[in-house]
Order: sequence, then C-alpha cells, then structure tokens
Amino acid sequence: MSSRFLVIKLGGSAITVKGKPLTPRLPIIKKVAEDLVKLYQEGFKFIVVHGGGSYGHPIASKYSLHKGFFHVGQLRGFSETELAMRDINHILASSFYDAGLPVVPMHPSCMVVACKGELTDFYVRPVKLALGLGLIPLLHGDVTMDVKWGFSVISGDQLASFLAISLKADKLIFGMDVKGLFDRDPRSHPEAKLLRRVNVKELNLIDLRVSEGIYDVTGGMRAKLKEALKVASSGIPVYLGSILEKGMVIKMAKGIPGDYTVILP
Ligand code: IPE
Repeated sequence: MSSRFLVIKLGGSAITVKGKPLTPRLPIIKKVAEDLVKLYQEGFKFIVVHGGGSYGHPIASKYSLHKGFFHVGQLRGFSETELAMRDINHILASSFYDAGLPVVPMHPSCMVVACKGELTDFYVRPVKLALGLGLIPLLHGDVTMDVKWGFSVISGDQLASFLAISLKADKLIFGMDVKGLFDRDPRSHPEAKLLRRVNVKELNLIDLRVSEGIYDVTGGMRAKLKEALKVASSGIPVYLGSILEKGMVIKMAKGIPGDYTVILP
C-alpha cells in the first residue's frame, strides 16, 4: 500500500444538519470533496467512511435498533435506516463524483457481521482491491446482522478503525464539527484548551468529560475515543479535527500545523 494511505471518517454532525431529519450540509460536503480531489491528484490513496447524522441516528433510535432485535415491528425500522443511510451515501458519492473523484459506494450491511454490537467479521477484500485500482471506496455507519443480537448498529468509527488497522493505514482522520479534543468541555469552560498532540499514555490519564449527542445510538465521543485509542495503540496516528472549514482535511492529511488534535502511538 502507498506510504500516503489514509482512512478518513466524516462525522455525521459535520455532513448533516443536527436535529433536522434527513438534511445534508451540502456546502460542507462540497468543501470536503474539493479537498479530497487535491489529495487524490497528489497521489494520496484513501478510504472514506461517513456517519449517519440526522439520517441514520433518529430512525435507528426510534426503533431501538442499537438494542438488537426484540420485536417484529423493528424490521421496517431496519429497512428505513438502511435506506436513509444509502440516501446520504448517494449524496456524498454524487458530490465526490461531480468533483472528479472515482468514488465507489460500498454498503457495510453486505460486508460485515457483528457480535453484541462489536464488529467481528468484515470482508475487506473489495475495499482493498478497489483501492489498488485507484478507486475511492465510500462506506458508511450501518445496520448489520449480529450473531447474538439479531442485528445491531455499527458506527462509521468502528468501521474506519477496523479498516485502518487491518489495511495498515498511515493515518486515520476523524473529520468532525468540533476542533478536536479539549482538556475540558469548551461549551461550559471558555478557557478550555485544545489538546494538539497527545500520546496514548497521556490520553488514558486525562479525565475526558466528553459530551454525548442527544440521539446518538453509537456512543458519541466516548465511543470515538475508544476506537481512536485502539488505532493509536496499534502504531497508527489518529487526527481529530473540524472539517467545517475548507483545507482542514488537507492539513490533517499532510500534517500541516493547525487547530486539530493528533493522538500519537
Ligand atoms: C451511525 O454511524 C450509523 C447509523 C445510525 C445507522 P456513526 O455513528 O458513525 O454516525 P455519526 O458520525 O455519529 O453521525
């Protein structure tokens, strides 16, 4: 694999309007697409995984899909969530395609099996082969079959972390709607400091008071950090930063100094 191989997760809160069901943030998606085109032209290889935001989460939450299968009435909710995720996936794929990228949508419900909400089996060969050809695989957090629970919801963070480790990415980037990790909650503490560089050991010592989304069925920031720590512990640096401004994906991809957090192994 190329020495500039990235796994990029686009957070649902950045690419959709929080609290407004089924609403994409098209200007942000366009900015990200423009950044990705530049990286692609410079020879970077990358896999993009996106979250559910106001597409996946409210529906999955309405039918309690994250609690597994317990009622036949959830089955239509499963379909509805899958269809909504494909809608937002198609919006991103079209935007990337229009920008000039050879994007290929891939749906994890067809490639993944979970056990009690944890991703256990992931048929990654199509992703790896597509990358080798120069295609850009575009995956998303999804509802999947679960050997113990019937079904479960697998976050884009879990998928991105699995892919980064199993395909040995050079870095994992979490694109979010916040600047990175702070030493305390920046909304209630204006003096909160952005943690620019932390290592796994330091991060384990920090009491991170992270906020949880109102309808986030996949565990919010705490679950993201669990995945980030897994990846960083395996030797792969993890970048967390806002993608609301143009150029931020490029900055993180190239390691250009800026307002974001890097978790080092
Ligand atoms: C959630 O994916 C997918 C579904 C709800 C089906 P994520 O958990 O990665 O989504 P965001 O990034 O938090 O919105």
